[in-house]
Amino acid sequence: MEHLLAAVVPDRPPKTDSPYSIWQRAEGIPILRGSSVDDLHKVDVAPWPRLGQKGAFVNLADQEEDDGWVIEVEPGGSTRVLHHAFEMSIYVVDGRGATSLWQDETRKQTVEWQRGSIFSPPLNCSYQHFNLDGQRPARLFAVTNAPMVMNLYRCEDFAFNNPYVFKDRYAGQDSYFTGPGEMVAQTRWQTNFVPDVRAVKLAPARRGLGATTMEFSLCNNLSIAHSSEFPAGTYKLAHRHNVGAHVIILEGVGYSLLWFEGETERRRVNWTDGTVLSPREGEYHQHFNTGPSPARYMAFRLGDLDRRKGWGETEDGYSGIPYYREDPAIYDLYLSECAKSGAQVVLPRPDYR
Ligand SMILES: [Fe+2]
Repeated sequence: MEHLLAAVVPDRPPKTDSPYSIWQRAEGIPILRGSSVDDLHKVDVAPWPRLGQKGAFVNLADQEEDDGWVIEVEPGGSTRVLHHAFEMSIYVVDGRGATSLWQDETRKQTVEWQRGSIFSPPLNCSYQHFNLDGQRPARLFAVTNAPMVMNLYRCEDFAFNNPYVFKDRYAGQDSYFTGPGEMVAQTRWQTNFVPDVRAVKLAPARRGLGATTMEFSLCNNLSIAHSSEFPAGTYKLAHRHNVGAHVIILEGVGYSLLWFEGETERRRVNWTDGTVLSPREGEYHQHFNTGPSPARYMAFRLGDLDRRKGWGETEDGYSGIPYYREDPAIYDLYLSECAKSGAQVVLPRPDYR
């Protein structure tokens, strides 16, 4: 089964002539590529006329499904008013501020955010970000599906100057951003604003011993967010799926490994608060907490657009590679990294079969 799946992994070099990539270059801000960004706090940003503030693209995993925008708002400053016919999910990397949102200019609503907040301007809704701190810049990380929309319609005007009002997403309801939302499953919260993703209580998950998770379904978007936490001295199962997930490390000492079927030299991404990684199409990825406290990350991903089910590899109830089928080198590295940071080794060496 794995060989069949590996055979269809497409070779996807970065595109240079797609409508999205042409638009992206013309925006005139830095474009970061590769599999990961070390620290969103430290990404170099440059003036971005479209926003009236500074920004950079984080365009990982050679993908044109979704992209990342680092947005920095100067102390006491604000962005220009934007609206766009593509979805955007925002994680507040640092700072505190507010965003005004409206379909009808006479009925503006405001959300106040801080480090760790996540929210989404509803599809094609007008919005403007304000930094409420007069001393320090505020930094946001937004994941959008702009590449898909730009490549489908090949029209910047359609994306950024579209008058259509998606009332099914947002119709100016008073409690839209302040209500409690609804738990639609044990691990799925339909909400339009998460004040601090670091503090959300998570529920038991399937992938890995003691792991907990929660999905956030924002603003009736197709794209979704989720957060996951797993205990000190443990690691999660390796798995793979289609491209499109941006994993943001929130806290913990550890690393992720990335590799394709058949590769024994795995790419390693060390974690810090603000690391982002994005696995390529069909690339295995596995997260390790080799520190003395729980580790938490979150991800923005395409949701129903990401065709994840096509990669559903399950065996004995595991989704991904069961521990007993791992390369023993994976456990050896975990042992040595736990020893380095003084973490208690919780998982026994797998009984390889
Ligand atoms: Fe994943």
